[in-house]
Amino acid sequence: MDRMTKDRTIEGEVAALLDWYAAMGADEAIGEAPLDAFSVSAKPRAAPAPQQAPVAERAGGRERPPLPDRYSDFATTREPRPAPKTVTPRPVQPRRQETADMPSAGEIAKTASLAELRALVEQFDGCPLKRTAKSLCFSRGSETADLMLIGEAPGRDEDLQGKPFVGRAGQLLDKMLAAIGRAEDSVYITNTVYWRPPGNRTPTPQEIAACLPFLEQQIALLKPKTIMLLGGAAASTMLQTTQGIMRLRGKWKSYDKTDTPIPVMATLHPAFLLRNSAAKRKAWQDLLMVKQRLDSDQS
Ligand code: URA
Repeated sequence: MDRMTKDRTIEGEVAALLDWYAAMGADEAIGEAPLDAFSVSAKPRAAPAPQQAPVAERAGGRERPPLPDRYSDFATTREPRPAPKTVTPRPVQPRRQETADMPSAGEIAKTASLAELRALVEQFDGCPLKRTAKSLCFSRGSETADLMLIGEAPGRDEDLQGKPFVGRAGQLLDKMLAAIGRAEDSVYITNTVYWRPPGNRTPTPQEIAACLPFLEQQIALLKPKTIMLLGGAAASTMLQTTQGIMRLRGKWKSYDKTDTPIPVMATLHPAFLLRNSAAKRKAWQDLLMVKQRLDSDQS
């Protein structure tokens, strides 16, 4: 093999490896030098390094293959991920002991105020997503808002900023809300899970279930007049149904776990709308129904 061909082969292998890391969720470098995390796991964490460009940019601007649309009913299957060529067995890490006398998330959450709840979620180790995420994304908006919005899971931008819906989907959501006269100070926004799933995959039912008591307690404390569920994951979780978002959206449903039932409107996820402009009309219809209901509550 001549020198140039060899260089090109190595470059291709490095690029494929970076793509694989990115698909696994490791799309951000946090240090200049490689680090054996197993040898330092007992030591306190070093401060994060300044933000770096995404892996795809560092790999010479090569485009990463698009991830499946996790917000759509139409794309629920995933391409199998490429496996690494060689797998070195890792030592099994001892797991945090889960004992019978440990209070469950539900028991902890039930007694907390909204301010205490965030601190409790920060300390909560029952959701495995916490181990791979950089930050907790609890909520943004006003704690006195009459409109609560629940999305699926934080993405990369949310993980970096520690707030839900601050990336492109969040910007679209803000524009949609502005169109019905709502700024951040008149809505409360959160997700079904509080940490970014690796590689932006859909959170598993177990991950959602682990965080659900905190979400239910947020609703109980906030007592919003109306809840909007953004996308299929939030809708099926909160409405306890297997029906898809296309069937659920645009109809008033009810959340009945509070003393007074709360009207709920499911709609399409803003990330889905970014890829499917034609569907924006449907989301707009749903938003108008919410606006009309909230306006009539005020009059
Ligand atoms: N998508 C979500 O469902 N939630 C976020 O916070 C961001 C993107």
